[in-house]
Amino acid sequence: MAEIRIEGLTRYFGGVRAVDDVSLDIADGDFLVLLGPSGCGKTTLLRMIAGLLEPSGGRIMLGDRDITHLPARQRDLAMVFQSYALYPHLTVERNIGFPLRAARRPRAEIARQVRDVADQLELGELLGRRPRELSGGQRQRVALGRALVRDPAAFLMDEPLSNLDAKLRTATRTELTALHRTLRRTFVYVTHDQVEAMSMATRVVLLNGGRVEQAGTPTEVYDSPASVFVAGFLGAPPMNLLPARIENHGGTLTAVAEGLRIPLWPGASEPRDVIVGLRPENAFQLTAAGAGAPVGTASPAGAGARTSAAGPAPGIHGVVTTVENLGSEEVAWCDVGGQAVALRGPRPLGLTVGEHAHLTVNVSRVHLFDRASGRRLEWRPSAARDQVLSAAPTPADPTPVIPTPSPASTAPTEAASTTASKAASDTTARTATSATV
Ligand SMILES: Nc1ncnc2c1ncn2[C@@H]1O[C@H](COP(=O)(O)OP(=O)(O)OP(=O)(O)O)[C@@H](O)[C@H]1O
Ligand SMILES: [Mg+2]
Repeated sequence: MAEIRIEGLTRYFGGVRAVDDVSLDIADGDFLVLLGPSGCGKTTLLRMIAGLLEPSGGRIMLGDRDITHLPARQRDLAMVFQSYALYPHLTVERNIGFPLRAARRPRAEIARQVRDVADQLELGELLGRRPRELSGGQRQRVALGRALVRDPAAFLMDEPLSNLDAKLRTATRTELTALHRTLRRTFVYVTHDQVEAMSMATRVVLLNGGRVEQAGTPTEVYDSPASVFVAGFLGAPPMNLLPARIENHGGTLTAVAEGLRIPLWPGASEPRDVIVGLRPENAFQLTAAGAGAPVGTASPAGAGARTSAAGPAPGIHGVVTTVENLGSEEVAWCDVGGQAVALRGPRPLGLTVGEHAHLTVNVSRVHLFDRASGRRLEWRPSAARDQVLSAAPTPADPTPVIPTPSPASTAPTEAASTTASKAASDTTARTATSATV
C-alpha cells in the first residue's frame, strides 16, 4: 500500500518558509508531479517525503504508517536525483546492485534482480561499463535501475530528465510513462517543466512560494486554473491575462477594457475589477482591416463585426506587433490597449506586423479571476443580482458553492464539500455557452 498522505507539512530555513502548510493525498499508483517555478519548494517537499530533510511541522503517512521521523532507509521509498548520484568507480552492474548488497541479500538473488532490471531498462549490454563511459540518458537509466531494484513502495524523482538534451528528454518521458504503467507504483516527480507535468502526470500539484496553488488532473489545471498564477504558469505562451472590468450592458455581463469588449452571459452583477484570461489557442482572428487601423475603432466586414452604442465590435482589437514561426503553428502578438495579447494557431495565421487584428473568442473558453486575490471566479447565476460571480474554492480555504442552475445546464453545482479540483472542473461546464463573440 503506497498511499502517501501529507498533512500540514512545513519547513523553514531560517526565516524562509520553503514549504508552507502543504497537505496532499497521493493515491496508490498515482503519477503525481510537483510543478512550479524555481525556489517554490518542490525539492524541499520531496526531500521531506524521502526522509532526507526533517520537517519543521506536519506529518507524512505511508499507508497507515507515520513515517515523519523515520530514517530514509526505513521508508521503503526510492529517490532518483537530478545528478544521478552514481558511484563513478563502480560498473553499471554494481551501481544497480548497490542497494541489494547494502541490504546483504544473497549473491544469486542480486545477480538475478540486476539482470531483470537491466533488461527492463535496456541496459543489458552495458553492465560492465563505468558511468563515465555512458551517455546522459544511459546514466539516467542506471540511476532509475538502482531505484527499481529495491522494489520500493514509491519512487521519488527530482528533475531526473533535466540533464538530458531535448530529444532524449522526449524519449525518456515516454519511457517513464510506460514504466509507470507497467509497474503500477506510486511516482512523485518534481519538475519545473510543464510539458513533463502535462504529459506524464495523473495529477499535478502547482506550488507557489511553498504553498499549493492547485492540485488536479492535467486537464483540470489547464482548463480550469484556480488562480492567475496557475493560468500564467501553464501554456506556451501562457494564458493571456488582461485587467478588465465587468459591467452590465443591456442585461449581459460584459468584460470591458481598452480594445476589449466581451459580452459573457445574460445576467447582472455588481461591476467589479477582474482579470480576463484567454489562452492563445482560444483566440481567433475574425478579419483583418488595413494596416494602421486604430485599435478599437476598426469595424471590418465579416461575421460578428458590428459596432454598437457600447463601443467597438465585440471581441478584442489590437495591432500585430510580432509574428513567430513555430513550424506547424504561428504565434502572433498583438498590442491591445498597451497589453500584449498572444494568439496561437496553425501556420499561416494570415496576420502581418502592423496590421489591425480583430480577435473573436469562444465565451466558454474565457476565464475570469478576481483582480485583488487572483483567485478564479465562477459564474453562478442567482436570484440575488450581486452574487453571480463568486470566488472559486481554494485548496486551503474551500468556499461553499451555492447550488444554482446555470444558463448552460440545469444540473446543480457541487455541494459545499466539493474539492477544489472538482469544483474547478465544474466551472467549465457551468461557464460553457455556445455563444461566440
Ligand atoms: N539548505 C537550505 N538552506 C537555506 N535555504 C534553502 C535551503 N534549501 C532550500 N532553501 C530555500 O528554500 C526555498 C525552496 O527551495 P527548493 O530547493 O525546495 O526549491 P525548488 O522548487 O526545488 O527550486 P528549483 O526548481 O530551483 O530546484 C528556496 O527559497 C531556497 O532558497
Ligand atoms: Mg529543486
